[in-house]
Amino acid sequence: MLFLDVKNLFPGMRLARDIHYYDTSKRKMIELKKGTDLTSENIRSFRASNINGVYVDYVPDDLEPVSNIDDGLKNDAVAALKILADNFLNTPESIQALHIQSLSKISSMLVESLLQDRNALINIFNLKKHDEYTYHHSVSVAVIAVAIGMELGFDERTLHDLALSGMLHDIGKVTIPVEIINKPARLTNREFDVIKTHPINAGVHLVKRNLVNENTFKGIVFHHERWDGTGYPNGLDGDKIPLFARIITVADVYDALTSNRPYRAPMQPSEAIEYIMGGCGSIFDVDIVKVFLKKIAPYPAGKKVKLSDGRIATVVRNHPEHPLRPVVKVNGTSEVIDLLKDTNSMNITIKEVI
Ligand SMILES: [Fe+2]
Repeated sequence: MLFLDVKNLFPGMRLARDIHYYDTSKRKMIELKKGTDLTSENIRSFRASNINGVYVDYVPDDLEPVSNIDDGLKNDAVAALKILADNFLNTPESIQALHIQSLSKISSMLVESLLQDRNALINIFNLKKHDEYTYHHSVSVAVIAVAIGMELGFDERTLHDLALSGMLHDIGKVTIPVEIINKPARLTNREFDVIKTHPINAGVHLVKRNLVNENTFKGIVFHHERWDGTGYPNGLDGDKIPLFARIITVADVYDALTSNRPYRAPMQPSEAIEYIMGGCGSIFDVDIVKVFLKKIAPYPAGKKVKLSDGRIATVVRNHPEHPLRPVVKVNGTSEVIDLLKDTNSMNITIKEVI
C-alpha cells in the first residue's frame, strides 16, 4: 500500500482504502470503496476538493508523464515564439512590439502556473517530443530558469522577466544561416564564429527597439558567458556575469544535453546532471547549480526506467529532497519499491530512462 499525494495520482491506480469526502464542485458527499480504479474525473474531483492524497495498492505499468505546464500553454508559447522568429528581422516596430507583448503575457501565465506548486520538481521530458527544436528548447529553458528563480526567492515580476529572457535567449539565431544552425556535424572555427554572434545580434535588435527591460536583455546577451571568463561575447567572469545569464546558462546546457539533436543522441538526465556538476566553477556558478539540483527531476513520475537488477519499472513519486531515489513500481508485477526508504532495496539503482 502506498500513500500518494494527489498530484502523483494517475488514472488506473486502485484505491487501497475507502474514502469519504465532500466534493466542493458537486456539493455532495462522495464515497469511494477500496478496490475502485481511479478515473481522471475522480482525480480532478480530489484536486478541486483539496484532498491531500489517498492510499493506492495497484499502479498500472503505463502512466502518462505529467508536465509542470499544461499542453495548451506550451503550444501557445511555441506558436508565439515561432511567429516572433519568423518576423524578427523585417517587421515594423509596432508589430514586433505586439509579438513581444504576447510572449510577455505567456511568460506571466507560465510563471503563474509554476507558482501553483512551489515544491514541484521540474519535469521537462514531455516538452521534447517535437521537431521544432529551438522553440521547444526555449520554452524548456524558461521553465527551468523560473524554477531556479523561484528557489532563489525572486518576486513574480522578476520571474516574469526571467521567463521572457529564457524564451528569447536564442532568438538571435534567426540571424544565422540555417545551414550552420542545422549542420549535422561539427562546426568549423569560422562557422562557430558566426554562431557566436547570436546573443549580440538579438540584444542589439531588441534594445534598439526598446522591446525588453534591462534584466531580460542581459540574460539574452550574456547566456554564453562562462564563470571562468572563457565564454562569449564579452568574456565576463564570476559575478560580473549578470544573474539572469548565469541562470539561463545552466538551464540552456541541461536542456540541450538531454535533447535529441541531429548530431547526437540525448544524454540521460543523470549524465547531464553530472556534466553540470563537473562544470561548477569553470562553466557554471556553483550557487546556481546547487539550486538547480534541488529543482530538477532526473526521473519524473510516469517515466519508465531500467533498474540495476535488469527489471523495468515506472516512477510513481519523487522525493524532492532525494531526486535520484524515487518510488518506483516494477512493471508486470504489483511490487512498489521506495528506493529511498526500503532498506532491502538500497543496492538497487536506476540505470537509465527508457
Ligand atoms: Fe545560445
